[in-house]
Amino acid sequence: MTVQRNKSAELEGIELRQTETRPNGPTGRPLRSFDEPAPLKGHGPARIIALCNQKGGVGKTTTTISVGAALADYGRRVLAIDFDPQGALSAGLGVQTHDVPNIYDLLLGSIKDPHEAIQSTSTPGLDVIPANIDLSAAEVHLVNEVAREQILASVLRKVKDEYDVILIDCQPSLGLLTVNALTASHGVLIPLECEFFALRGVALLIETIEKVKDRLNPAIGLDGILATMYDSRTLHSREVLERVVETFGEKVFETVIGRTVKFPDASVAAAPITSFAPEHPAAEAYRQLARELISRGAVA
Ligand SMILES: Nc1ncnc2c1ncn2[C@@H]1O[C@H](COP(=O)(O)OP(=O)(O)OP(=O)(O)O)[C@@H](O)[C@H]1O
Ligand SMILES: [Mg+2]
Repeated sequence: MTVQRNKSAELEGIELRQTETRPNGPTGRPLRSFDEPAPLKGHGPARIIALCNQKGGVGKTTTTISVGAALADYGRRVLAIDFDPQGALSAGLGVQTHDVPNIYDLLLGSIKDPHEAIQSTSTPGLDVIPANIDLSAAEVHLVNEVAREQILASVLRKVKDEYDVILIDCQPSLGLLTVNALTASHGVLIPLECEFFALRGVALLIETIEKVKDRLNPAIGLDGILATMYDSRTLHSREVLERVVETFGEKVFETVIGRTVKFPDASVAAAPITSFAPEHPAAEAYRQLARELISRGAVA
């Protein structure tokens, strides 16, 4: 009798455990939720993260804006650096780019104090240093500068104590500007679009990060790979993500960003998704990424 009771209890136990098991998320690992972060008692010094992929249109700028706004909503002080002459980050945050001090002036030294170039945005706690097409001349103008790879690092040193995180939105290239971003950073976040050629070029990017680590910035590390524009309805998206997880394992963020037209809509409105459509799953996805970054220690 006793044995039987124990057996059935055991079975119940198994059943219980089974109902407790969470389903797997899109990355093939059990879905986890990340706790709402505790407020910070003080601010700074910032951890600096470069959002980098030499492939165009993978979600670097969208991620910088959206996760920057989500981190600011969690009480973090965030500075976003527009490091692309296209100025998409500045436009997406609705700040002025012409006839205002910008990142190019700071790199060239025509403005010495970065505070002069910092603009606040409609999201409290999220500031930005803008860029415009002038920045496209930077690579040519900086080529003969002393320590030309370290210029951005020296600019950011002057403001890093006032922020918890600095996000650098890189242009789609591995040229001198991107090397400056990597030299200034503690971590790299690589957005990868869930499509067939996603992994092409990532090896070269990782090689570049390794070279910067060897020669210029021993402290740099890969914070993680973020799968973007994921469409769970297509086998293709699922296969690409599977391949990305096979290749990079734990480095792939558990948070995956789905494909939705809300992002281009938010860009037109020059507002982060978290305020443009706060209830949309895409806004929640970037809030989750913010919580994941905090829980991984990539952001305070
Ligand atoms: N998850 C998403 N779903 C649908 N569209 C998206 C998503 N993320 C970004 N987009 C759109 O895709 C386009 C490219 O995104 P974004 O500008 O963020 O990429 P990027 O990597 O910064 O591009 P570039 O290399 O040109 O700087 C934009 O029009 C953006 O609105
Ligand atoms: Mg961009």
